[in-house]
Amino acid sequence: MSNDDAVAAADYSMRHWLSAEPGRIKIGSDAHKRLFCRMLLDTHNPYKPAVLVWPKLDPDALQRITALPIWDIAVQTEGRATLRVETYAKTVRDPLLNEALIMDGGEEARHKVVLSKLVGAYDITLAPEPVYEVPTDPEWGWMVTGYSECIDSFFSFGLFESAKRTGYFPAELVETFEPVIQEEARHILFFANWMAWYRRQLAWWRRPLFAVKVMRVWAFLIWERIGIAKGLDNKGEMQDANFAITGHQQIGLDLNIGELVDLCLTEDRRRMDGYDPRLLRPTFVPRMARLARRFMR
Ligand SMILES: [Fe+2]
Ligand SMILES: [Fe+2]
Repeated sequence: MSNDDAVAAADYSMRHWLSAEPGRIKIGSDAHKRLFCRMLLDTHNPYKPAVLVWPKLDPDALQRITALPIWDIAVQTEGRATLRVETYAKTVRDPLLNEALIMDGGEEARHKVVLSKLVGAYDITLAPEPVYEVPTDPEWGWMVTGYSECIDSFFSFGLFESAKRTGYFPAELVETFEPVIQEEARHILFFANWMAWYRRQLAWWRRPLFAVKVMRVWAFLIWERIGIAKGLDNKGEMQDANFAITGHQQIGLDLNIGELVDLCLTEDRRRMDGYDPRLLRPTFVPRMARLARRFMR
C-alpha cells in the first residue's frame, strides 16, 4: 500500500465504524460500554503531527489565518482538556473504559501538538500559556470538558464547513486540519454515550445528586462563556475569543446566523452518520440550536 493509500484508509476508518456485536444493545449495559469504548479505540487515526504538511499560503490567506482570534483559546482548551481527561482516566478502574479515556486524553494532547505546529508554521504569536490546574474533582473536570466539547464542536462543524466553502481556509489547509475536527465528533459521541451509560450505573439514590451536578456543570459553562465574551470587549481586541461566540463574524461568512445554525445541524448529522446507529448521538446542543432557530428568520 502506498503512503497515500494508507492515509486514505486511516481517514476512512476513523469516520466509519460498526460493531460486530449483533442485535439490540441496551443503553447502560456492559454491551453498551463495549460499544462506545470500542468505537473510540477502533476509529483512532494514527497520524503523526510532525509529518503533517502545512501548505504555503499566499499573503492574503496567511493574513486571514493569523488574524483569527481563536489560537490562544484553542491551544489552552486542548491543554486543559488533556489534563482533565487524563486526571479522570486515572480514577477509572474498568480496563476498557480506562483504555478509551487514555486514548481520548492522548488525542487532546495531540491536538495541542497539531496546533503548535500550525502556529509555528504560520508565525502566529500566542499569549503565554497559563498553568493548568489539576481538577480537585476529576469527574467534574471530565464532564466540564465533555459538555464544552459538545457546544464548541457543534459550532465548529458549521464554521469549518463554511470557511471551506467560502475559501477562507485554503483547501490544502482544510485537508490538513480536517482530522482534528472529526476527532472532536468522535469525542462528543463517546461522551454522550458515557453520560447515558454512567447515569444508569449509579445507584438510584445517587442519581438526583448527579442530576444536580450536571446542572452545575452547565451553569459553569454558561458563566465561563459570558466571561470570555466580556473579556473580549474589555480588551478591545479579538485575540482570545471563543470560536463558538465570535467565530462567525471572523470567518467572512455570507451566511446569516440562521443559515449558519442550519449548516451546523447538517454537518453535525453528516459527521455522526458513519458510526454504529446503536450509539446514542449527542442531542442536547442540536436540540437547543433547533429551538433557537425557530426564533430566527
Ligand atoms: Fe481536542
Ligand atoms: Fe476532544
